[in-house]
Amino acid sequence: MNFEGRDIISTADLSREELLHIMDVSAKMEEMVKKEAISDLLKDKMVAVIFLEPSTRTRLSFETAVQRLGARHITIADPKASSAQKGESLADTAKTVEGYVDCIVIRQPMVGGAKIVADAVDIPVINGGDGAGQHPTQALLDLYTIIKEKGTLENLKVAMVGDLKFGRTVHSLSYALAPFNPVEYIYCSPEELKMPDDICRDMKQKGITIKETRSIEEALKADIIYMTRIQKERFEDPAEYEKLKGSYVLNRKLVEGGKKDITIMHPLPRVDEIATDVDDLPNAAYFRQAHNGVYLRMALIAMVMGRA
Ligand code: CP
Repeated sequence: MNFEGRDIISTADLSREELLHIMDVSAKMEEMVKKEAISDLLKDKMVAVIFLEPSTRTRLSFETAVQRLGARHITIADPKASSAQKGESLADTAKTVEGYVDCIVIRQPMVGGAKIVADAVDIPVINGGDGAGQHPTQALLDLYTIIKEKGTLENLKVAMVGDLKFGRTVHSLSYALAPFNPVEYIYCSPEELKMPDDICRDMKQKGITIKETRSIEEALKADIIYMTRIQKERFEDPAEYEKLKGSYVLNRKLVEGGKKDITIMHPLPRVDEIATDVDDLPNAAYFRQAHNGVYLRMALIAMVMGRA
């Protein structure tokens, strides 16, 4: 399967076969890192890692991935230090950077912004998060984590909890898991932060049973509970955020009342959605999940450059 030159913008663009292939390449990257730590697979390549919104995991794991593949990178880690501050358009920034590197990874706040960048350039573009839109590499590392934690992607009941309106990770995860015959998606949120209608409609069209609820106890009946942060930075009205923050706090007592062996995931960062007394449980997968991001991002970078 050839991904050379391909943009990674949305998980809705990826077929079941392509998703499984990405999982296989990620596993090979993990093996490679465990054997040789740094490879020279991309020693002649340069990657731009442009982050116009805050990040710890996505940016640092992309930069780690680039370096473990033997490539080099240039970065914008602080939006205030880029010419976007002077009013430069995303397309102009992209066309400029295209002359410096072989691949662009970009996070920025506008839904659809990564597509604008991809349309502006001829080199591959990887979406590191476009506002409240999509976060495809997060969902792909979530799939990789689910395989490692559960042994399968098939026939799972998956609960997504918290800010389903603004949380781009759960948008991407809904599409990424859809080809694997999920038994049910439980969308658990306050009324104000429900999963967008277009995504619910798409999932129903794919034959997926959707249960919308406000009850975290209902969500704890799933095979996987995927907690998310209330996305403070997306609220126009701070009072609305104050009203909704702390809507769900998963603690050890709640977990103990849920499905045995439920896998607990979170894209991180967390604020207070998971109490720290959950961290020691064997089924608390969220830090392992963050670590898996390096292998998945190594796979994607190597694939879009035609080297894996
Ligand atoms: N999960 C995630 O995207 O984390 P960062 O915002 O720290 O990159």
